[in-house]
Amino acid sequence: MRDLETIKKGKKTMDKLIVKIEKSGNRYNAFDKDGVKHTSDITTGARKKAFMNGMALERRVNKSGNKYWWAVPMSEFESLSAPVIDVSSVDVPSDHAEVMNFIHSSYDLKPKGLVMKELKWKYLIRSAVRGKNILMTGPAGCGKTMAAKSLVNSLDRPDFYFNLGATQDPRATLIGNTHFDKKKGTYFSEALFVKAIQTPNAVILLDELSRAHPDAWNILMTVLDSGQRYLRLDEGEGQETINVAEGVTFVATAMGC
Ligand SMILES: Nc1ncnc2c1ncn2[C@@H]1O[C@H](COP(=O)(O)OP(=O)(O)OP(=O)(O)O)[C@@H](O)[C@H]1O
Ligand SMILES: [Mg+2]
Repeated sequence: MRDLETIKKGKKTMDKLIVKIEKSGNRYNAFDKDGVKHTSDITTGARKKAFMNGMALERRVNKSGNKYWWAVPMSEFESLSAPVIDVSSVDVPSDHAEVMNFIHSSYDLKPKGLVMKELKWKYLIRSAVRGKNILMTGPAGCGKTMAAKSLVNSLDRPDFYFNLGATQDPRATLIGNTHFDKKKGTYFSEALFVKAIQTPNAVILLDELSRAHPDAWNILMTVLDSGQRYLRLDEGEGQETINVAEGVTFVATAMGC
């Protein structure tokens, strides 16, 4: 009985928190009215479902004291009194001193659950804000994927996730597919990756790069080389090349010691 009282009290004192889901690249991020990101607290499925249904999510506590997120009408989110902050804007400091300052104070952005040395975390942030590619190596389960995802969750930048270790057809994932339609005839549909590299300041995660098919490495060669940064859609004559947009950072993970 006493426990129940405590839970009830806890419920009363806990601040009301409602988040809105914003789509960024192929990820669904959750922001509250103050523009604070809560993406990592909510499952991907719940975020996606809420976004698709145009619903907001409210943090609630069940009888056993566990937190859960409940879909509520968007009007509940709108009615909260805090000012509306445009979270869709890309907040990348441009001035050199400002960038330095941002990197120095970036350790606060690291999720508490992620065990990582301060210098390593700052190096990650530095590379991302300066548009430099990063390759994270380490044995299985050392937190490569977790660190990469935490990085994109901490920055207000469009982010895209590609698991190259799980793709069967690198060409279809990175370039696109040719389809046939009775009315339209043969047509080409671009892969999401083509859109991702054309999004300025995007952070693109290439997970399990070391497990990718060698064809994927060939396609990515020119994309990841800082002196080239383009993607060739076809090898044939008059082939179209797509340039990687300004500020795009690739964060890749690979197995290794
Ligand atoms: N540095 C860390 N800090 C906190 N948790 C960690 C850390 N490293 C691993 N973990 C825990 O281990 C789990 C697996 O980590 P993760 O998937 O990021 O490893 P990985 O390096 O990507 O492995 P793989 O090479 O198999 O892809 C994480 O979900 C997390 O719970
Ligand atoms: Mg991994």
